[in-house]
Amino acid sequence: MMAEAFSHTPVMLAEMLAALSPRAGGIYLDGTFGGGGYSRAILDAAPCIVWAIDRDPAAVARGAALAQCYPGRLHVIEGGFGAMLGLLAAHGVHSLDGVVLDLGLSSYQIDDPARGFSFRADGPLDMRMGASGPTAADLVARLPEAELADTLYQFGEERLSRRIARAIVTARAEAPIDTTQRLADIIRAVVPRSGDGIDPATRSFQALRIRVNDELGEITRALQDAVSLLAPGGRLVVVSFHSLEDRLVKTFFTAQSGRTPSPSRHDPRGMASRAPAGFRLLTGKPQRPTDAETRQNPRARSARLRALQRLETPGQETTAQEARP
Ligand SMILES: C[S@@+](CC[C@H](N)C(=O)[O-])C[C@H]1O[C@@H](n2cnc3c(N)ncnc32)[C@H](O)[C@@H]1O
Repeated sequence: MMAEAFSHTPVMLAEMLAALSPRAGGIYLDGTFGGGGYSRAILDAAPCIVWAIDRDPAAVARGAALAQCYPGRLHVIEGGFGAMLGLLAAHGVHSLDGVVLDLGLSSYQIDDPARGFSFRADGPLDMRMGASGPTAADLVARLPEAELADTLYQFGEERLSRRIARAIVTARAEAPIDTTQRLADIIRAVVPRSGDGIDPATRSFQALRIRVNDELGEITRALQDAVSLLAPGGRLVVVSFHSLEDRLVKTFFTAQSGRTPSPSRHDPRGMASRAPAGFRLLTGKPQRPTDAETRQNPRARSARLRALQRLETPGQETTAQEARP
């Protein structure tokens, strides 16, 4: 394989391993292979088997190279993790001892201007993690103004979504918006710079990326598939990077562990058991990266890790105290 110009530093690696707790003979899924940092750590932690998925053909090619270092122990499949049930079934895998998802983009993707994710460097307005489907440029060219505004609001939590959508529609009537720089400039012209130094294009780029890749739909499907694949004692570990992702994971984990999502008058502790749960939360509150890690790798800053375990016997564990790490 040719040496690559980019690399990816795995985020919260030690915390992920502790939460997943790989064991000898176990079968694990790394649903977001990326640069292979998690897969490699799992394979090195125990004599186990790892199935890995990534929708990015470049990541799958890296996986094929790494698989040669772990003969018969690492298998890499190209596809969306939202389809993990079918992808694994096609290889005769119906049960797992652990699943890990490290959501979002790898540094290989962010740092390569040709992928079109970054507003800091000019490149084609692509933003697809995989090789198929409409690009961000296609959406920006075709979406009606109101839908564009809704996308920026829903997936970017952008308060000025209507103003930005209007500016995009005006600009695209003059010339196609097909580069990251042109889109970023259109947004910067109508969104005032905030005092926190965050680029005005940040939220809109996040929104388009989420929509292009159906990221929230993928996570919703993946969580459901993952719990159906977990064997008794099996663990699901998810590292998320923004509040929309983390909210989905938190709500799903809370429901699976049979807890009420928020405190009520009748349940002052807010975490009482409702029904015999099949899962227990391994993280009451999400784990965060250490200060040392965020100093070394600023991209870890927003990471949150949550973990869930299928009980050996449903209803085995019910108190909030036990769920605290
Ligand atoms: C943050 S990186 C993972 C990095 C990896 N843990 C490591 O240590 O190198 C996320 C990866 O997940 C992939 N990905 C994101 N969403 C996906 C999805 N729905 N299906 C499959 N792969 C996805 C991306 O293409 C990217 O390669």
